[in-house]
Amino acid sequence: MENSGKYKRILVTSALTYANGDTHLGHIAGSILPADMYVRYCRLADYDIIYVCGSDEYGTAIEMSAIKEGISPKEIVDKYHFANKKAYEQLGMSFDIYSRTSTETHKKTAQDFFTNLYDKDLLYQKTEKQLYSEKEKRFLADRFVIGTCPVCGFEEARGDECENCGSALSPLELKNPRSTITGDTPVVKESTHFYFPLSKFQPKLEEWINSKKDWKPNVVNYCKGWFKTGLQDRAITRDLDWGVPLPIEGFDGKVIYVWFEAPMGYISITKELFAAKGNEDKYKDYWCSNDTKLVHFLGKDNIIFHAIFFPAMIMAHGDLVLAENVPANEFMNLEGTKQSKSKGHAIYVKDVVDKYNPDSLRYAIASNMPENKDTDFYWKDLQAKNNNELGAILGNFVNRTFVFAGKYFDGAVPEAGAYAEVDNNIINSIKSYTSSIASYYENYKFKDALSETMNLVRDANKYFNDTEPWKVVKEDTARCGTIINVCLQLCNTFAVLFNPVLPFTSEKLLRMLNMPGENLSWANAEKLLLPAGHKLNTPEILFRKIEDSEIEQ
Ligand code: 2FM
Ligand code: ZN
Repeated sequence: MENSGKYKRILVTSALTYANGDTHLGHIAGSILPADMYVRYCRLADYDIIYVCGSDEYGTAIEMSAIKEGISPKEIVDKYHFANKKAYEQLGMSFDIYSRTSTETHKKTAQDFFTNLYDKDLLYQKTEKQLYSEKEKRFLADRFVIGTCPVCGFEEARGDECENCGSALSPLELKNPRSTITGDTPVVKESTHFYFPLSKFQPKLEEWINSKKDWKPNVVNYCKGWFKTGLQDRAITRDLDWGVPLPIEGFDGKVIYVWFEAPMGYISITKELFAAKGNEDKYKDYWCSNDTKLVHFLGKDNIIFHAIFFPAMIMAHGDLVLAENVPANEFMNLEGTKQSKSKGHAIYVKDVVDKYNPDSLRYAIASNMPENKDTDFYWKDLQAKNNNELGAILGNFVNRTFVFAGKYFDGAVPEAGAYAEVDNNIINSIKSYTSSIASYYENYKFKDALSETMNLVRDANKYFNDTEPWKVVKEDTARCGTIINVCLQLCNTFAVLFNPVLPFTSEKLLRMLNMPGENLSWANAEKLLLPAGHKLNTPEILFRKIEDSEIEQ
């Protein structure tokens, strides 16, 4: 195994998806697809890497949806956990494991973590005023209350967070609070909670983030903004039934705050991955070692939790690895407005994955990924990317190469004669592209990786046009054989270089080339691996045209 820089192994996480609704293209663009592309690249580069993800199944988001759908929280999470797992699979997401936070392993992991901090006297209790609904006979935690954001004035801010400005909030900070369920104005009542002393960790967190010279500017700027305001201690327990119960006696009816236990899902899910392989303890190789490069992929609304709150918890714990990078994305809006499952304004994976080639969806999203600023998904773009780039550039090159191989060379790889300058040029550019694309992946620049990969195909098409095999074949079959040999080698290179973004197409290409999957590695991308005489399989259509009528619908 190689390693990535000074690290022996890589541990990649994507933000756990709340199992209270169907996953949508906003999730894919924000945290799932970039991670999958990165992981697929790393596997090809032969790094020791694992990719863990799953469903976030506690918290008021879940309870709220259960109330709205008139079923129990358990029924909600079962329904959406399996639905989302399937949707991700259909879209080619290659998690090593996709599990959930309602498992026994997770409960124990979260409770042990809580106990660890409690035993070290790091947590403190505070009796505080809280919003209580007389009508519902319950405290209104987090999402059970909405009101006006004290920071930006947004009138629909939730009790835990303002979706408009990204501020982490507590219900009492909201102006004009009201119950999300009944709309009633709550009263104030007292309750005792455990607090995590986040403010104490500010100097250490600042030092840590200041040392991160390669983090994305948007992530660092968010963090600096919060440091400027000053970090506040946070209550890490809630008066709720649905959640991980406190591991301490005398606190019945209280659970651990979802943002305290959910990130531990990354740990518990890693444990499950290795337990299934017969050695749960191997999770420690990844979590309890500074040789691990831990990378969290997420959308900007989760930055505070992954770059500040979870790292502070890890600093407090002491035995776990801190993130090496948090390459958060901004949002991918839908035709101008933020995608939101609560508002029903989103493109759900389950609705599109059967209608369109999953690779076309992946490509359209990746080439418009909100890496540094919000972007918009337009249906017209999906059609344009599919028809004008995937079909007209990549599909076209592969198609014409296979047509020639079939028609003039009996469906086998022709012999390559002496290379002309034009052949050497394209062969050399395979090498330079392979290395520049790798460096884009290493640096989380997925859009650049993709456009660079497509540029190589553009060069390949130019090579085909410049060498004119359709003319050459009439005069000099051997020379035409050399050209088609080079074109087939390029197809094999494309199977590798496009694998992170177009895994299904990459597989198809390998099948057409009659190349075994084991050959798929980044190192092989620049090798001319197809021997003369190697029999090819029947070509398949790579990208079906998307018609105007489909997009208008
Ligand atoms: O914002 C969300 O969708 C959360 N479910 C993300 C959780 S990430 C992790 F910490 F579990
Ligand atoms: Zn706000």
